[in-house]
Amino acid sequence: MSPRFTFSLFISLWFLSAHPATAKDYLKLPLLHKTPPPSPTQTLLSDIHRLHHHQNTRKGYVKSPVVSGAPSGSGQYFVELRLGSPPQPLLLVADTGSDLLWLTCSACRHNCTPSHSPGSTFLARHSSSFSPHHCFDSACRLVPHPDHNPCNRSRLHSPCRYQYSYSDGSMTSGFFSEDMATLNTSSGREATLEKLSFGCGFQISGPSVSGASFNGAHGVMGLGRGSISFASQLGHRFGDKFSYCLMDYTLSPPPTSYLIIGDEQNTISSNPKMSFTPLLINPLSPTFYYIEIKSVKINSTKLRIDPSVWSLDEVGNGGTIVDSGTTLTFVPEAAYVEILTAIKRRVKLPSPGKATPGFDLCFNVTSEPKPKLPRLSLELSGGSVLKPPPMNYFIDTEEGIKCLAVQPVGKEMGFSVIGNLMQQGFLFEFDRDKSRLGFSRHGCTFA
Ligand SMILES: *[C@@H]1O[C@H](CO)[C@@H](O)[C@H](O)[C@H]1NC(C)=O
Ligand SMILES: *[C@@H]1O[C@H](CO)[C@@H](O)[C@H](O)[C@H]1NC(C)=O
Ligand SMILES: *[C@@H]1O[C@H](CO)[C@@H](O)[C@H](O)[C@H]1NC(C)=O
Ligand SMILES: *[C@@H]1O[C@H](CO)[C@@H](O)[C@H](O)[C@H]1NC(C)=O
Repeated sequence: MSPRFTFSLFISLWFLSAHPATAKDYLKLPLLHKTPPPSPTQTLLSDIHRLHHHQNTRKGYVKSPVVSGAPSGSGQYFVELRLGSPPQPLLLVADTGSDLLWLTCSACRHNCTPSHSPGSTFLARHSSSFSPHHCFDSACRLVPHPDHNPCNRSRLHSPCRYQYSYSDGSMTSGFFSEDMATLNTSSGREATLEKLSFGCGFQISGPSVSGASFNGAHGVMGLGRGSISFASQLGHRFGDKFSYCLMDYTLSPPPTSYLIIGDEQNTISSNPKMSFTPLLINPLSPTFYYIEIKSVKINSTKLRIDPSVWSLDEVGNGGTIVDSGTTLTFVPEAAYVEILTAIKRRVKLPSPGKATPGFDLCFNVTSEPKPKLPRLSLELSGGSVLKPPPMNYFIDTEEGIKCLAVQPVGKEMGFSVIGNLMQQGFLFEFDRDKSRLGFSRHGCTFA
């Protein structure tokens, strides 16, 4: 994506903000997790799906310029957004691994019957402020287009067609549009209106964005680095950073956490426990937030993993991304073997009688309800250490069975992923302005 288009979107969005924000303003959106929690096997299937196709996406790079991660259907976090005039409430998957904000749209105008599923789609014609971007608008150049892409400059209504693909082959296509979003801001005794660009999706297909695995969501809120993401569009208004805290979704009732766009004063900036690591840019995958893993420790023993295993090479392979839309964590095969061996050596618990499909290392903890599990720590560039609790990398696949929730990925197949399970209980701040990722285990109670 060319930077000059980014610039033009910036300009248009800047002028569209009717009321410039005060420095203290930020946006606070509740993050929800749908119950019931997904089964680990379901989760694994959608995650693996997502990664397996990455290489194909890379090969198809020229045709499909957006290399994005697919939101896997399960183990997701959702954000509510009110869009249109009058506002229609929508539930979207919060995904740092993709850019586009899109919704399932319906063109139904009158007497929309349940078959048009009002409530499960955005009724574009019921919003007086909805309008598709014209195909000749500069904003239209920011989205990938379908092969058949007629555009008539002299026609008043010639909508901007988009087609956005995820790495598992799932895709959405329709009209790249704009409408007013009703947002609750921090200072807001009253809600504020912001114009948002999004994909009004009429064709949606693929395992991760449709059917049961999508869990009733109306679309995806892309929070990636690209200029069309929700974070980029609102960053100009509220500050070019966002943060969230993903709460443990196995808790009942699930605790409330928030996605915050902008700087929540007195929480993040004054949090002395915040650790930081630089966010790296991969020009071949400009959507993703990359960080660099330097080494891995298991119970203070540094594992013998060649540092090159983690590196992002000159053709854009490798590296590690932080993704809220993937559930499990994926590491290169060479690192995986070392982690597996080190954990196996330290845990004296029995193996289950039968193998758990998709997981290589499981323990039967029936006899020991509070098993002592080894501590994993990831040493990151910049000297910070991410030391998650064992529940972030051991998943209960069934009553009394805990499995290592880390999966191997061939380096040539793609990249490492810090999934949302690994992120639980931490406050993460994606500071796009300073190009750094902040994290703290002591930040969630504030949110
Ligand atoms: C473009 O639209 C104009 C106005 O509606 C029409 O006269 C013209 O034939 C169209 N051109 C094409 C190539 O369809
Ligand atoms: C916005 O605030 C109102 C009033 O406080 C509340 O009822 C509503 O749920 C909030 N909406 C969102 C999307 O946060
Ligand atoms: C786990 O161990 C208990 C005995 O401690 C046994 O009854 C149970 O069947 C085992 N479960 C599996 C899946 O192996
Ligand atoms: C690993 O560390 C945990 C937590 O510090 C501790 O409880 C456990 O005993 C250690 N295990 C081994 C085998 O060193």
